Formats: sequence, structure tokens, C-alpha cells
Amino acid sequence: MKRATFFAFFLPLISVGAAVFLTAAEDPHQKFKGDDAAMMRWRMGELCTEEGVYFTGSGNCVNCHAPDPEGEALVDETGHTVSPVTDWQATMMANSARDPFWQAKVAHEGLVNPDHRESIENVCTACHAPQGFHEAHLTGTAGPNGYTMEDLADDALGLDGVGCAACHTIDDINLAGRSNGDLPINPENVAWGGFENPWDGLMSGQTGFIPVYGEHMRNSEVCASCHSLYVHTQDLGGEETGQVYFEQTTYLEWVNSAFNAENVQCQGCHMPLVEGGAIAATQPNWLFPQRFGKHHLVGGNAFMLKLMRDNAVTLELSASPAQFDSTIARTERSLQNETAQLHALQLPSQAGEWLFEVEVENAAGHKFPSGYPSRLAFLEFVLVSSAGDTLFHSGKWSPEEGVFGRDAAYEPHWNEISSEEQVQVYETVFGDVSGTPTQLLERASVLLKDNRVPPRGFYSNHLAYDTVRFGPMAELDVDFNHYRNADGSVGEEGSGTDRLVYRIADGSGATSVQAHVRLHYIAVPARWVSGMFEYSDQSEAIATFESMFNASDRTPVLMKSTTVSGWMGYDGESEQWRVAPNPVAEGQLIRLIPPVGEAATAVWLTDANGRVLREVSVNEAMSGHRISDLAAGVYFARIQLVGGGWKAVRWVKL
Ligand code: HEC
Ligand code: HEC
Ligand code: HEC
Ligand code: HEC
Ligand code: HEC
Repeated sequence: MKRATFFAFFLPLISVGAAVFLTAAEDPHQKFKGDDAAMMRWRMGELCTEEGVYFTGSGNCVNCHAPDPEGEALVDETGHTVSPVTDWQATMMANSARDPFWQAKVAHEGLVNPDHRESIENVCTACHAPQGFHEAHLTGTAGPNGYTMEDLADDALGLDGVGCAACHTIDDINLAGRSNGDLPINPENVAWGGFENPWDGLMSGQTGFIPVYGEHMRNSEVCASCHSLYVHTQDLGGEETGQVYFEQTTYLEWVNSAFNAENVQCQGCHMPLVEGGAIAATQPNWLFPQRFGKHHLVGGNAFMLKLMRDNAVTLELSASPAQFDSTIARTERSLQNETAQLHALQLPSQAGEWLFEVEVENAAGHKFPSGYPSRLAFLEFVLVSSAGDTLFHSGKWSPEEGVFGRDAAYEPHWNEISSEEQVQVYETVFGDVSGTPTQLLERASVLLKDNRVPPRGFYSNHLAYDTVRFGPMAELDVDFNHYRNADGSVGEEGSGTDRLVYRIADGSGATSVQAHVRLHYIAVPARWVSGMFEYSDQSEAIATFESMFNASDRTPVLMKSTTVSGWMGYDGESEQWRVAPNPVAEGQLIRLIPPVGEAATAVWLTDANGRVLREVSVNEAMSGHRISDLAAGVYFARIQLVGGGWKAVRWVKL
């Protein structure tokens, strides 16, 4: 009652001042108190409040699950809000039905196949507008060809995207075996949640939805149906061939990974738990902390989040610029810190030929990239002489050309790169029935390329391999997804890595070089959408997206970078102990590289005068040791050798 009066009092005042308050500088994750929280909740008033038979709008959850003006409920251990509404509102899933790329793509598929337009739309809306889709089908109000874009256009429940109720009403019925948005929706308005014994004194009375504990909410299966997508292939005339093509297999990739075996569910990475729990609702005021999964739900799509932030008014999106900024920052942090590791080292280099090995290691719980088939990552490799001349550059990018050197059809998967015309692009490419690469989802027939880096613990003899297989070229790359043995030979499967060699002929006479290696990510490459833009004069949705796309900053996200030094004549065999990179820049790791036949039993870091700063485990010294706490200067690595004896290697931090 206390809070109800509070809002009745503030609301008129707030709506007048709204435009002034809602600047991008406002941080939605600050410690909410009083007016700020009221402001945030006012903004949430734009969410859908429609009530259906099976679903209810996300706006109906605001009263008790939005930020707490008292700053007590829905906060983490530092007092910052973890309101599911705040976090969810600016995610791709919350905006899946208004997403202008999706709207354009549905129009594109329909224009190419006008005879099947409505039934295609009925496929697309199942996952992108699940509440509208299932409400229509379950209540029998869908038309003969299903729930179409026309139905969606004025259906608030559908436009609510993957709303609160879309996930929370999923029953635990054979979830692992489902796909294409085929969701078992609870007929009794149960809202399943992740903690036991929720108190239902208020929620069902106010929303009609009953909070109940469901163990399945803690597991990947609840995500499976919308994150497994296959299409019924159509030939060039629009007839079904009877074939099924697996287009998105994020869930199945996870099934075939170490994360499944180690019980790291989708939620473990995409909905991290609040340490110590959180109070789950703002009323009543006597609740105590429960297990609480934060509704971050970010992947790699910083590009579309920015595009939607910048066009939020046109697209009628409810989240504030500050909420989008927060989701964008989380997405970029995830791409930079949690997605992949990049390693590089020099191989023996003689007679004017430089050799380096680069390794990309996937840290995500599925392929990298995963999901929608437009996603790609690519490697940039720049070799610079000590005089500062660029000797070689593979993987340049410009807004006009995109990734330089990509073949017109598609770039092959490389095991060795020796020309600037070659570039390592991690992606999936499918062809139509004639084998020609296509971006039309309904025509996907043959897998031409898939060298996306698999997750750790991915095996080609797994039962699910058929649906998540590598493309032909990656299958021929013998060390793709394989560990390496101590003697350098190819080891066991399941490493979640790709290794390749850069072999660069150099007539410049340079004797020492630096190799700069960078890993970039692109969610929506210009090339992927150019075919669709040819239809922009026939569809407003396509024209709208084209103008937004062209006005956007399309710079790839820089995920990782590393630099290694190399010198001509390095034979890799008789070499001394080395520290690499050396000199090392702030933010990089150092690695100790032993000469063949030698090994360490202990390693210490010392300053220039030999004073020991710390002992470093041999394992960490070999794989990468963080030195960001050390000031710029000269240091030594002091090494105790197996079989006795000492070595010291001088290294410099810049
Ligand atoms: C099984 C559920 C499902 C169905 C059915 C489905 N999608 Fe999606 N779609 C997804 C998911 C999940 C993603 C996001 C994956 C990612 O981020 O990599 C997605 C992403 C997209 C994107 C990229 C959006 C962006 O902002 O980058 C487009 C475009 C798209 N879908 C079009 C379609 C079209 C057209 C159809 C119908 C032919 C369709 N989808 C049917 C689940 C589905
Ligand atoms: C009138 C207040 C109120 C509204 C409105 C409300 N809830 Fe709740 N909700 C609660 C309370 C109280 C709890 C139980 C908290 C506890 O036991 O600590 C709860 C718990 C939950 C849980 C956790 C269940 C579990 O066992 O983990 C979920 C999920 C949930 N609500 C979803 C929703 C959704 C979705 C909406 C919008 C349709 C909504 N709530 C609207 C008050 C509300
Ligand atoms: C993509 C699916 C999805 C959407 C959308 C979603 N949730 Fe959840 N929610 C979950 C899952 C899964 C859990 C259980 C997490 C756990 O405990 O591991 C959960 C947990 C909760 C809980 C209880 C805390 C917990 O960890 O058990 C509440 C309350 C809740 N959600 C409310 C909401 C509200 C309100 C919205 C809309 C603003 C919403 N959710 C949107 C999937 C979703
Ligand atoms: C070990 C942590 C981890 C687990 C487990 C995990 N993910 Fe991810 N996921 C990530 C990271 C990191 C990214 C960002 C990199 C990327 O885009 O692949 C990501 C990206 C995604 C994307 C966007 C993919 C793209 O490139 O467009 C989707 C969709 C996704 N995850 C869904 C899921 C689902 C569904 C599950 C469970 C079946 C799951 N994830 C399990 C870490 C994880
Ligand atoms: C009702 C269908 C549905 C369910 C259930 C669902 N998703 Fe999604 N998810 C989608 C759609 C649709 C998109 C793509 C939206 C778009 O790009 O327009 C998506 C996108 C994503 C993304 C990509 C976000 C980005 O920024 O790249 C992640 C990560 C994700 N989902 C994780 C999950 C997890 C984890 C679960 C289970 C807790 C889950 N999803 C359950 C439909 C669903």
C-alpha cells in the first residue's frame, strides 16, 4: 500500500520531466533509491500489459520485480539492482519481435517464396514472437496458415518478444527433444522459477500467474526448443525437397561439449547467480534472499543492440538508452573476456621466410560463433619489421570492402596462410539444392563450410554429431579440435581449438619482427544482407532496416590481440630459454618457452637486481602469467632446471 501511494504521487511529475531525465549517462545498474527507481519503473510502464489466456504481458511483472525504491529487494551483495525487468528489457530476446533485421528477413523470405509467405511467417514467429504465436494457436484464433506478420503487427503480446511469460510458462515435458519453438505451455498459468517454495500471497492474485519451483528452469533444456532450428528445404522453384537442414544448433552443440558433462548449463554463463542470493520481489517487505539468476542473457550481438538503441523511437522500443548501453557493455565484455583465447608463437624461420603459429581456443559453451548463420569471426595477422615497415597483412577490414581477401563465393578454411589474399574466417556457409551459397534460410540444403571453433569436449563420434558436424574443409584439417602431444604430434580430439601457420616470404632482409595477431567478431556482415537489400523497393521492412544498417558503425568487435617477437635464423631447436613476448606490453601475458629437451622444476620472477618478487607455478609460466601488477622496467625469470642447474632470462615490461 505504501508503494502504491508513492507512485500515484510521483507519476504526473515524472512524465513531464521524462525527456530531461532519460539521458544516456544514467546507469540502470546504480543503487536505486527513491526518484531514480521511480523513474526506471515509469519507463517500464511502456511494457505490454495485455492479458491473454496463456500469457500475460511483461509489464504486469513490473509492480513487484522492477527496481526497489527502498533499495532492499532485487539487489546484489553490493546493493546494485538485479531486477529481471531492468536486465531483460534491453536484450535481444526482449526485442526479438521488433528487431528490424528479423522483420526485414521475414519479409525477404516471403518475397522470394510468395506462395509460402504465410506459412514461413508462422515458422518465424514461433520463436521471435512466442507469446503471440502460442496464444493464437492454443486458443484457436490463428488463421488457416498460422500466426502471420499481419497478426503480429497489432498484437501487443506478440510484440512483447520473448517476454517473461514466454520462458516462465514452459512445462517440463520432453524439453531436450524439442526444436523450432515447439513449447509445452502450462495451461494453468503456472510461472515456473528457479528457487524452492516461493511465497504466493500476492503474485497470483495480481497477475493470475502462480509462482512455482521448477527444477527444469535451472537447466539448458528450457532453452533447447528455441535454440535448435531446422528448416524443411525448398528447391529453387519453392517446392519442398523432403530434406531437413539444421540451421541453428546452439543447444545441440552444448550437448556435445564438456560443459554438459561438467553440469555448466546455459544459465551458468548467460544468467549468472547472485552470490548469497537476492530478495526476489519488492512486496511484501518481509521476504528473504533466494537463489537468484541475473537475467543478463547476452551473446555477441553488440551491433544490433547499438542499432536498436540508436533507432529506439522509430522502432517503438521501451528500454532506455542507458539500459541498452549496459547490455552492450556486457556483450562486449563477454566477447573480450569470456569467449576465446588467442595464442601465437614463432616457429623456426630461415632464409627469408617467417613462420608463426596462431591458435584460437573457444571458451564458450557451444561453437564460436554460434547461433544465427550470419555470425563470423576472423583473424588479422600483421607482420612489422623492427624498422616499422609492414611486411605482411592478412585480415584487413574496411567499411566498404568488409574483410579483405574473402573469396566471392566464400573463403576456404585455411591450415596455412601465405598470401594477403587469404584470411581465416570462422563461419558457416550453406548452399541451395544446386550447391550455390545462399543466405535464404528456406533454401539451405548442403553444408559448404563450417569451421566455427567447437566447444571444449566436442567429439565427432557423439550421437548428436550429425546435426552439428564440421564442414568438409575443417573435417580434413587433422589438428582442428585436437590437442597436441608433448612431441608436437597431433593428440586427442576435443581441444576446442584451431591452429594454423602463417608462412611469409620476406625479401626485405629484416632480421627481427613483431607479429600482431587480432581476433574480431561481426554479427551482421554487409555481405550477408546485400542480397536482401535488393528487395528494399518491395518491402518497407527491408528498406527501413537497410537505412538503419547503412547509418550504423559496422566496425567489428576486437575480441583479443597478442603480439610476439620473432627473429630470422631462429631454429626453435638449439634456442635458449625465452620469455615471450619480449618486450611485453601492459595487459599481456608472458610465457616461458623452453628449448627442446629441457624442462623446469620451479620458476621465480625477480627484479633487475635479482630480488625475488614471487614464485610462479611451472604450469602457469609455460601457459601464460599475468604481470599487470609490475611497473615498467627490466626483470628476470629465474628457472630451476630438471636434473639440476639454473637459467635466468632477462625480459622487459614496456
Ligand atoms: C527455433 C527458434 C527460431 C525460429 C523458428 C526462427 N528463429 Fe530467427 N533466431 C532464433 C535465435 C535463437 C536467434 C539468435 C541467435 C544468435 O544470436 O546467434 C535468431 C536470430 C535471427 C536473426 C538475426 C537477428 C539479429 O538481430 O541479428 C534473423 C534475421 C532471424 N533470426 C530470422 C528468422 C527468420 C526469417 C525465421 C523464419 C524463417 C526465423 N528467424 C525463425 C531463433 C529462431
Ligand atoms: C504483486 C507482486 C508480484 C507481481 C506483480 C509478480 N510477482 Fe512474481 N513473485 C512475487 C513474489 C512475492 C514472489 C515470491 C518471492 C519469495 O518467495 O521470496 C514471486 C516469485 C516469482 C518467481 C519465482 C518462482 C520460483 O519458485 O523461483 C517467478 C518466476 C516470478 N515471480 C515471475 C513473475 C512474472 C513472470 C510476473 C509477471 C507475469 C510476476 N512474477 C509478477 C510477486 C509478484
Ligand atoms: C529466456 C527466458 C527467460 C525470460 C525471458 C525471463 N526469465 Fe526469469 N528466469 C529464467 C530462468 C531460466 C530462471 C531460473 C534461473 C536460475 O535460478 O538458475 C529465471 C528466474 C526468475 C526469477 C526467480 C529467480 C531465480 O533465479 O530462480 C524471477 C523472479 C524471474 N525469473 C522473473 C522474470 C521476469 C519478471 C521476467 C521478465 C522481465 C523474466 N523473468 C524473464 C528465464 C527467463
Ligand atoms: C561456458 C559458458 C557458456 C555456456 C555454458 C553457454 N554459452 Fe552461450 N555464449 C557464451 C559466450 C561467451 C558467448 C559469446 C560468444 C559467441 O557469440 O559465441 C555466447 C553466445 C551465445 C549466443 C549468441 C551466439 C552468436 O554468436 O550469435 C547464443 C544464442 C547463446 N550463447 C545461447 C546459449 C545457449 C542456448 C546455451 C545452452 C544450450 C549456451 N549459450 C551455453 C557462453 C556460454
Ligand atoms: C521462446 C523462445 C526462446 C527461449 C525459450 C529462449 N530463447 Fe534465447 N533467443 C530467442 C530468440 C528469438 C533470440 C534472437 C532474438 C533476435 O536476435 O532478434 C534469442 C537470442 C538469445 C541470445 C543471443 C543474444 C545476443 O545478444 O547475441 C542468447 C545468449 C540467448 N538467447 C540465450 C538464451 C538462454 C540462456 C535461454 C534459456 C534460459 C534462452 N535463450 C531461451 C528465443 C528464445
